[in-house]
Amino acid sequence: TILDVSNLYKKTCCITHTTTRYLLRMKRLNSQLQEDGAPMELILLLRTILAGCKEISFRVSQGALAGVLGSTLSENVQGETQKKLDVISNQILKDILSESGYVKAISSEEEDDVVPCNPNGNYLVSFDPLDGSSNTDINSLIGTIFSITHAPQWMDSDDPSAFLQPGTQIVAAGYVLYGPSAMLALTTGRGTHLYTLDKTHGGFLLTTPNVKVPVQTAEYSINASNQRHWEAPVQAYINDLLAGTEGPREKDYNMRWVAAMVGDIHRVLSRGGIFMYPYDKRDPSKAGKLRLLYEANPMAFLVEQAGGLANTGTGRIMEVMPTEIHQRVPVLIGSKEEVETCLSYYK
Ligand code: F6P
Ligand code: MN
Repeated sequence: TILDVSNLYKKTCCITHTTTRYLLRMKRLNSQLQEDGAPMELILLLRTILAGCKEISFRVSQGALAGVLGSTLSENVQGETQKKLDVISNQILKDILSESGYVKAISSEEEDDVVPCNPNGNYLVSFDPLDGSSNTDINSLIGTIFSITHAPQWMDSDDPSAFLQPGTQIVAAGYVLYGPSAMLALTTGRGTHLYTLDKTHGGFLLTTPNVKVPVQTAEYSINASNQRHWEAPVQAYINDLLAGTEGPREKDYNMRWVAAMVGDIHRVLSRGGIFMYPYDKRDPSKAGKLRLLYEANPMAFLVEQAGGLANTGTGRIMEVMPTEIHQRVPVLIGSKEEVETCLSYYK
């Protein structure tokens, strides 16, 4: 009846009003960053990156329509009429960072070379604009991963050598996961915080401050179809996990594989586990699948700041000295005790 509908409407208004009041009181990105001692210019740079990510989030939510919109809504996306989402995402971040003034140069998984921006910019940004992009075909998890370092005074803005700094030099790293909700994981070296994008008002709200990766786990993540290519330590380690309660680990393990690092690492941050993309013997010239600058280093920083470990099998990921911007590394990231156990197989 009409009466029922109007009651329902009143109730909905009441819920919306209460939610809005509650959301507006939640802690926002800016105040957490200030509390963590981030300098104002870095905060402004992070907000610039996140403005780009909000746009990507919108495109991603448009799904198959994004290619169409990509060629009509944005002046900067030209050329082909149907762009793929990873190309659109790269263009969005490249444009917004180039125009911001804060950035001297960027390196992106989608660009062959370093892209020079403002010669007077104080920062360098590296990013994977859309990690796990093959998941776009199946409407599954994808995300943007980024890291920021200082731009050395001596560098020319098109000089790639300034990007060849170990992960220990990163001043901020994060990812935005485009899932059922859009979530940001961010660290400036004072813990890792998780934020959720409030799509009604537009801000990232702090939903899990100082997230901690549980030190133990019974969950692992590896692409088992590559098993025959793994080296002996990984073979032995995974065999022992598979043996469950009957093997030396004396417990049953569960396995998960999102096929987007950003989704797998989000699970590790949320409830622990070990995520591995080890070296394998298929192509000896490749040290692994994942990229040091765009994937391994930012995730290593986030997980270490949450109490987990991130190793290549032979050393800490963040201490690897890059030799080229698109360098790959083997990756073992996750719960402290599980990564330590895995590493004991390498000895
Ligand atoms: O960017 C590389 C990547 O898509 C990661 O996000 C993901 O973890 C991995 O590759 C998936 O690899 P595979 O194709 O072996 O499942
Ligand atoms: Mn990727």
